[in-house]
Amino acid sequence: MGFFYSTLLFTLLLHICDAAASLTIQDSYVSAIGDPGMRNPNARFALEAWNFCNEVGNEAPLMGSPRLADCADLHCSPSLTGDQDIPGGPLLRKRSTCKVHHKVTEVDNRLGVGDRFPDGNYKAYTDPDLYAAEKERYLGSLCEGHDSTEPWYHWMIMLKNGNFDKNTTLCPENGRKVSKIVTGRNFPCFGEGCMNQPLVYHNYSRIVYGKHASLIGGFYGTYDLDANLTAGLDGKSFFSVSWQKNLSTGSWIVSNKLTTSFKYPWLMLYLRADAAEGFNGGYHYSGRGIMRKLPESPNFKVKLTLEVRQGGGSNSQFYLLDIGSCWKNNGDPCDGDVLTDVTRYSEMIINPATSSWCRPDNLVSCPPYHVSPNGEIIYRNDTSRFPYSAYHLYCAPGNANYLEKPYDICDPYSNPQAQELVQILPHPEWAVHGYPSKKGEGWIGDARSWELDVGALSNRLYFYQDPGTKPAKRVWSSLNVGTEIYVSSQGATAEWTVSDFDVLIPEGGKGGVRAVL
Ligand SMILES: *[C@@H]1O[C@H](CO)[C@@H](O)[C@H](O)[C@H]1NC(C)=O
Ligand SMILES: *[C@@H]1O[C@H](CO)[C@@H](O)[C@H](O)[C@H]1NC(C)=O
Ligand SMILES: *[C@@H]1O[C@H](CO)[C@@H](O)[C@H](O)[C@H]1NC(C)=O
Ligand SMILES: *[C@@H]1O[C@H](CO)[C@@H](O)[C@H](O)[C@H]1NC(C)=O
Ligand SMILES: *[C@@H]1O[C@H](CO)[C@@H](O)[C@H](O)[C@H]1NC(C)=O
Repeated sequence: MGFFYSTLLFTLLLHICDAAASLTIQDSYVSAIGDPGMRNPNARFALEAWNFCNEVGNEAPLMGSPRLADCADLHCSPSLTGDQDIPGGPLLRKRSTCKVHHKVTEVDNRLGVGDRFPDGNYKAYTDPDLYAAEKERYLGSLCEGHDSTEPWYHWMIMLKNGNFDKNTTLCPENGRKVSKIVTGRNFPCFGEGCMNQPLVYHNYSRIVYGKHASLIGGFYGTYDLDANLTAGLDGKSFFSVSWQKNLSTGSWIVSNKLTTSFKYPWLMLYLRADAAEGFNGGYHYSGRGIMRKLPESPNFKVKLTLEVRQGGGSNSQFYLLDIGSCWKNNGDPCDGDVLTDVTRYSEMIINPATSSWCRPDNLVSCPPYHVSPNGEIIYRNDTSRFPYSAYHLYCAPGNANYLEKPYDICDPYSNPQAQELVQILPHPEWAVHGYPSKKGEGWIGDARSWELDVGALSNRLYFYQDPGTKPAKRVWSSLNVGTEIYVSSQGATAEWTVSDFDVLIPEGGKGGVRAVL
C-alpha cells in the first residue's frame, strides 16, 4: 500500500474510533448524581466541618453542630402576562412570578449537641461527633430529592482544620483509641483549643433577576474565633463558598475562596459529590450526598469545568479530583470497624509548584510498582522506566502487615481509621485518560472543561492488599475538587470556581453500586 492510501486508511480509522468513543459516552453512560451537570434550578448545598480526624470534637461557641444546609426550591408559576415560552427552558424562569421555598430553616441549621430534633426519628446525642452525624441525616431528610427511584440529597462543601493538638486524645491512631499520643511527627497547633470548629455565616439562597430568575446564596466564615468579619480580615483565616447560575448554560457556578492564617496554617475546602447514603471517603458514619449510584473502576467518568483564579501558594495541593473510598486490606468492603477499615485516596495535584517526592533516590515515596496504560507492571526500582514524575507521593496504610520495603506509613491520626494515599501529578501517563499531561495545565489562566476517565485511571493505581487476597472492588464513595493548603502560616489564598460537575456511569449494566450501611 502506498503512502497516500495508508494515510487515508489511518485517518478513516481515527474517525471511526472517534465516533465510537463519543457514541459510547453519549449513548450508554448516564449521570449517577441527583443534580446532573449542576443544572437543577433548585439549590441543594450542605456544609460539613471536620477536625483533624474528621470528627467534631467541640462545637464553636453559638454555632451549633457544624452541619448546615441550604436546600431551596425556586417556584415559578406561568407568567400573568401570558409569556410562557421561556427561553432557557425550565431551568431559569421569568421574574414577577417566582418565589423561593426554603426546606431547611435557621432553626434547623442552628441545632447543636443535645438539642432535640424537630423530627422525633432523630436522636439528640450528647456526644458532638454522633450528634453531627445525626444532624447530617436530619438535614438530608429535609433536602431529599424525590425525582428518581434512589434518594439523593445535596452537594457537600467540606471544610477541614489541619491543626492537631497532641496533648488531647481526640484522634485515634490508625483507628485505635490511645490514652496518649506519642509520635515524632509534627503538626501545627497554636495551643489549647487549636482544633476548633469554624464560625460559619450563611447567605440563604435568594432570587436574583437577570435575564431569568435564579437563586444565589453562600456560606462563609473563619476559624479565628476572635475575628470580626465586618471589620475586615486582617490576617485571619477565611473561607467562602457561593453558588449562582450561569445564565447561558443553567449550571451552578460554585465560587470558592480559602485563606490560611498564622493560627490556622493548614486548611482544606472541597466540593464533594458523596454517596447519597452510607460511608463516604474519610467519613465513617452514614452520611448524606448527591451520588444516587456509586461509580466503580474502571467504568466511570467525571465532567467538570474548573477555573483556578488564585493558587494558594506553593503548599496548596489543589486536587483536580480527590477520590475517596474504603476497603479492608483483605479486599473486603468496609463495615465500620475502624481497626480494619482503610480509607483509600487518590489525588491528582495540579499546582505546578508541587514536586515529585517519589524519585529514583527516594523510592520510599513511590508505590511498589506503576501500571502502564497497556497494563504492564513497572517496578519502582526499574529506574530507566518507572515514571517517577507522575507521582507526588505514595504512603501505605498503618495497619498493613505485608508491606514491601522501603515504605512510609500515612499519617495515622488524620482519619478515623488507617489510610492509604496515592498522590499523582500531571503526566502523559495519566493524560491518556483526559487528565493534564504537564505542569501548568488547568492552572491559573487556563480554565478548562474536563472529561476525566477517572474509572480507567483509578483502575491502574497501586493500592495495598494482603498477599493472595481477592482484589477489592474499587467503588468510589466520594469525588472531590478543591484544595488542601498545607502548612502556610503567612496567610495563603486560593480562589476557584467549579461548574458543570457530573459523574457518568454505564447505563444499566456494570457499576451503579449502592453504598453499604
Ligand atoms: C502540651 O503540653 C506540653 C507540656 O505540658 C506544653 O508544653 C504544650 O504547650 C502543650 N501543647 C498545647 C498545644 O497545648
Ligand atoms: C454574602 O452576602 C454578602 C452581602 O450581600 C456578600 O457581600 C457576600 O459576598 C456573600 N458571601 C457569600 C459567600 O455568599
Ligand atoms: C465588628 O466590626 C464592625 C465594623 O468595624 C463594628 O461596627 C462592630 O461593632 C464589630 N463587632 C464586634 C462584635 O466587635
Ligand atoms: C457560562 O458558561 C459559558 C459556556 O460554558 C462560559 O463561556 C461562560 O464563561 C460562563 N459564565 C460564567 C459567568 O462563568
Ligand atoms: C526490583 O524489585 C522487585 C520487586 O520488589 C524485585 O523482585 C527485584 O529483585 C528488584 N530488582 C532489583 C535489581 O533490585
